[in-house]
Amino acid sequence: MKITVFGTGYVGLVTGTCLADVGHDVVCVDIDRNKIERLVQGDIPIYEPGLESMVLRNVEARRLRFTTDAGMAVEHGVLQFIAVGTPPDEDGSADLQYVLAVASTIGQYMNGYKVVIDKSTVPVGTADKVRDRIESVLAERVADVPFDVCSNPEFLKEGSALEDFTRGARIVVGTDSDRVSDLMRECYAPYNRNREKLMFMSVRAAELTKYAANAMLATKISFMNEIANLAERLGADIEDVRRGIGSDPRIGYHFIYPGCGYGGSCFPKDVQALARTASKVGYEAELLKAVEAVNKRQKSTLFEKLSHALNGELEGKTIAVWGLSFKPETDDMRDAPSRTLMEALWAHGVTVQAYDPEAMKECRRIYGERDDLILVADRIQAVKKADALVICTEWKEFRTLDAEWIRGQLSTPVVIDGRNLFDPQTMALAGVDYYAVGRGKTL
Ligand code: UGA
Repeated sequence: MKITVFGTGYVGLVTGTCLADVGHDVVCVDIDRNKIERLVQGDIPIYEPGLESMVLRNVEARRLRFTTDAGMAVEHGVLQFIAVGTPPDEDGSADLQYVLAVASTIGQYMNGYKVVIDKSTVPVGTADKVRDRIESVLAERVADVPFDVCSNPEFLKEGSALEDFTRGARIVVGTDSDRVSDLMRECYAPYNRNREKLMFMSVRAAELTKYAANAMLATKISFMNEIANLAERLGADIEDVRRGIGSDPRIGYHFIYPGCGYGGSCFPKDVQALARTASKVGYEAELLKAVEAVNKRQKSTLFEKLSHALNGELEGKTIAVWGLSFKPETDDMRDAPSRTLMEALWAHGVTVQAYDPEAMKECRRIYGERDDLILVADRIQAVKKADALVICTEWKEFRTLDAEWIRGQLSTPVVIDGRNLFDPQTMALAGVDYYAVGRGKTL
């Protein structure tokens, strides 16, 4: 099938590449000339395991092309995926200007039937706005070209995006048209062989499904963080509690790991946007607001614990930070807990000595060169001459820590672990002043 994907960010690039990999003829289009030039040269702008080789082999096979030529791109595909960004605007609502700009472009160039597919996470009702926009552009052109708009949200996780795309739990398609259903079925047939994964529903239900899924997962995390904070104060170990509740199949073990707060490009933005959507229709989503508030507070616990452990004496200290990305296997630092921590440390005159396996370039891009940010080549160097260690991301290579060794490295043997990687007892026996999340020591 001929497919066009607008936007070569995370979602667009993964979608276009995976669809090309099963034999579709895909054109990916972006207004960012620089990005397209890099992609044409095989330089992949994001880090995602397995993506680079998949892009290269499909470009080589001429099933995947990158362009800035919107006219050619609209002409190409019967399916037109919109996978551009929907950043939050000031009040937390999703900003639709990029999505609607693509709708205008499609309306401007289309000359035959097209299915316009919202792949980006967009508020309920967006498909109607996309339809209106295309209709008004067609009216200006005095052109009568048939098209349908459908919602097909993605459920990719950064770090396992290819696996999620190819072996995802479900493929949600929001449409009321049989023609669209048939075309979407054909598009996803290679991923729908072993069991029926396609779920057809109304456009609005599909749009809401995406937000509801992320909001539910974010709620589980904030809930566990709240219970962890309680456990800490009540002298219970959250790891025992987690095992205790996870064993109930109605609760389950997934997404109940307490930590230093959720980050990334999806949960924070989507929870806020859904709460805004709710207010706009006259409903105050109290639970969603609490999920967001708990998460905000959780992100500041790393700093609070560190400050407590060092008796508030922070000025002039050097703190080692392990992990900058919002989770392992990505270089993404959007809304990462490490940022809340570092910004608080800098505000208190602290030098950060940080290491991350993938995100150091990104960290430099965000914060630039500054005297109080030293990025080092490995985790060992990060703790050299540091006063204390804070762990923000559970990269595999951080999971082993010789307690005796770390005590010897740090001037005050304080370790703040935002991901519960170690046994508090072992740490205590080795003389490390160890703070985890919901285990043992509290503020
Ligand atoms: C999330 C969803 O998991 C995907 O299903 C969805 O498609 C995606 O958003 C999206 O909307 O595009 P992602 O943001 O890549 O994916 O990352 P997750 O693996 O879900 O992790 C999110 C955050 O939650 C991380 O900061 C992680 O550390 C935290 N987390 C996760 C916890 O603190 N505890 C847990 O038990 C699980």
